[in-house]
Amino acid sequence: MSAPSSHSPRRVAVLGSTGSIGTSTLDVIERLEGRLTPVALSAGRNVTLLAEQVRRWQPAIAALADPGLAEEFRALVGTEWSGELLLGEDAAERICRDADVDIVLNGCVGAAGLRPSWATIQRKLPLALANKESLVIAGELLTREAMARSAPILPVDSEHNGLFQLLEGSDGEEVSRLILTASGGPFRERDVATFDAIRPEEALRHPTWSMGARITVDSATLLNKGFEVLEARWLFGIPPARIDVWIHPESIVHGFVEWRDGSTTAQLSLPDMRVPIQNALCYPERLESGLPRCDLTQQGALRFFAPEPERFPCLGLAYRALEEGGTAPAVLNAGDEVLVEAFLAGEIRFPQIAECLAEVLDARPDEPVDGLDSLLAADAWARREARSVLGRCR
Ligand SMILES: NC(=O)c1ccc[n+]([C@@H]2O[C@H](COP(=O)([O-])OP(=O)(O)OC[C@H]3O[C@@H](n4cnc5c(N)ncnc54)[C@H](OP(=O)(O)O)[C@@H]3O)[C@@H](O)[C@H]2O)c1
Repeated sequence: MSAPSSHSPRRVAVLGSTGSIGTSTLDVIERLEGRLTPVALSAGRNVTLLAEQVRRWQPAIAALADPGLAEEFRALVGTEWSGELLLGEDAAERICRDADVDIVLNGCVGAAGLRPSWATIQRKLPLALANKESLVIAGELLTREAMARSAPILPVDSEHNGLFQLLEGSDGEEVSRLILTASGGPFRERDVATFDAIRPEEALRHPTWSMGARITVDSATLLNKGFEVLEARWLFGIPPARIDVWIHPESIVHGFVEWRDGSTTAQLSLPDMRVPIQNALCYPERLESGLPRCDLTQQGALRFFAPEPERFPCLGLAYRALEEGGTAPAVLNAGDEVLVEAFLAGEIRFPQIAECLAEVLDARPDEPVDGLDSLLAADAWARREARSVLGRCR
């Protein structure tokens, strides 16, 4: 990969440009003043913000997953933009397949990110990957394909970006353990006996990170960390028995690598997604970001604890899905997407996310995985099953 320069800026497709990762990505691009340029922006339904971004950045392509919003979008941009508008659920994937770009930043939320990731890898383009569902659903397939095509996957998730930095130059042979840190979310110290009373707005109040709704609830259950164990397993080829999670409320250390010689290395930065986003987009260069630095003399104590299994049953479900393999991780992800929505809509209580998810996993038919379609079929099955479990427990 050539380094981004001000003479020929690296052309970036930003998928999910209207989301938390997408807006942080555009902020990184703005700060780097001409080293990167967003040539394609893709969103789901937020036409107001997409139109604003398109007027500001003048990308060659804009994409909306919901075609019903095309007229509203066109009215909002008026004559201020003359690029190509792609519409439909496959619009982001079409950008990855055909657009003239140097790197794809996948910040879509949910299973919608999978086909764009696949198309990017098939084209051998570097993939700056925030969409964790791509790896959770199809980690084995995607990483095998990326290896076969020498297509770089550059992790954006802060923990994996940290581990990626630490593992550079190692083939993994000398690694005895990877440790991912987790803030522990808003309920780290709350009495477990009161979990039934947790309201959606409390679960959405993350102590250290500002993120989209689903990942914020997943951080409160710690399933997000479970998904990250799955991601790490495929990104770094380390078996799950050698991947641990530590609660670290300050979110300053993002990951540790424990080496077989007894040494442990760590990656630190303030909890700001712009740091890993820039690292992935500019790899292998480290450019001046102008972002606040992590001054440990001002920081105070950094604390680390092992997570309590009874407080965070979803973490155990993720290890179970990894052990079962096959379609289990796809089922876990899709089931959770439905159950988190139901929790946010006030339809189920917080502990029922884990309880219903375990029921969905228990009911999973053990079918072979023979490509993306079988995983997406398992995803669709899990959504139906989660709705039927919901129907019984409401
Ligand atoms: N936020 C973080 O700090 C963070 C950290 C690590 C990893 N991640 C991962 O990054 C991904 C994005 O997270 P986020 O927090 O940025 O989520 P978010 O704020 O909810 O944003 C999601 C983005 O995806 C777009 N989108 C939704 N459905 C789509 C579809 N069918 N096709 C194309 N685009 C679609 C949304 O568009 P509209 O809003 O226009 O509908 C929005 O731009 C997730 O996989 C998350 O787990 C996030």
